[in-house]
Amino acid sequence: MRAPCRARCVAVGAAVPERRLTNADLAGMVDTSDEWIVSRTGIRERRVVDPGTPLSALAEPAARQCLERAGVAAADLDGIIVATISGDHIMPTTANLLQHRLGATRAWGYDLANACNGFIAALSTAAAFIEAGRAKRILVIGGDIMSTLVDYQDRNTCILFGDGAGAVLVEAGPADGPGIFGFELHSDGSGGGELMIPSSGSARPRTAEALAQRQQYVKQNGRTVFAAAIRRMAEVSESLMRTLGITAADIDLLVPHQANLRILEPTAERLGIPLERVVINIERMANTTGGTIPIALNDAFTAGRLVAGSRIMLVAFGGGLTWGACYLTWGR
Ligand code: COA
Repeated sequence: MRAPCRARCVAVGAAVPERRLTNADLAGMVDTSDEWIVSRTGIRERRVVDPGTPLSALAEPAARQCLERAGVAAADLDGIIVATISGDHIMPTTANLLQHRLGATRAWGYDLANACNGFIAALSTAAAFIEAGRAKRILVIGGDIMSTLVDYQDRNTCILFGDGAGAVLVEAGPADGPGIFGFELHSDGSGGGELMIPSSGSARPRTAEALAQRQQYVKQNGRTVFAAAIRRMAEVSESLMRTLGITAADIDLLVPHQANLRILEPTAERLGIPLERVVINIERMANTTGGTIPIALNDAFTAGRLVAGSRIMLVAFGGGLTWGACYLTWGR
């Protein structure tokens, strides 16, 4: 009989573009100001790729850094899951292209689209494969090239997003060892219209008319999304904490999806987690959608805040609507 195991997160890597798009740059493009953006969102700048750079070009260095830190060869991967809404193409998926770029000769791969909750959803999928005994090592990537999906004529959305990718290696470990202790995932499709890209699939193909109406870009009802994000991120974290029988004292690091500083702060406050235990990089990175959580984990790692044994709560909310949380202890 197969020995029970626990999926564990053993290494992280990330890659963001060199190019910075500052609030001052945006103020030259739309009717906004550094003061407005900082006071309403906490964002000062975001990274953006040079036009034409595909997601796989950021995902590859993120993946290589993660594998090197883990001491694992690409050829030893069983699978690759890329959480994104802005992959290189709909077909082939970015995970397939990455499999080739990395030389991960034995690995299967596919993309998973769940917007800003994509990384937690992908991590839960990887953990399920591993704990079912169907894989030993899966590379989970979260990343987006949001600069291809936002309308730089729309001040309501273009200030919020940036580009970047991060990677976490998930592997099988002993059932009584460190690793992933639980997930909670939710969807509410009735709110699908609150945050969407209208012309991005079969419902509204990218016809000349749709493009002329700029329907290929992110549209949102900012206030509704803002209120729902605060409510759902706190709710799902509290619910998972109850399920696992843990309190705020059992969380060394809260790593939330980075949507708005004014969403992160009340979420942490409601959970009773002081800000020094929250990983926040939104002022430099903005919202990279699938990328926020692994990039924040990477920032925490390079700052020496994420170490073997760190007890971490991940939480996210995004278009779908979809939200989720995961509690884990880091390392081998
Ligand atoms: N610069 C200047 N003014 C702006 C602006 C900008 N970049 N963007 C919007 N405004 C204006 C609005 O047009 C509005 O003007 P009006 O009252 O004349 O219509 C005014 O500022 C206030 O807008 P409001 O929506 O009340 O601001 P807010 O405090 O809610 O902040 C967001 C707007 C978008 C920053 C905020 O709602 C938010 O963060 N929502 C969640 C978005 C998100 O995270 N989406 C992804 C989720 S994963």
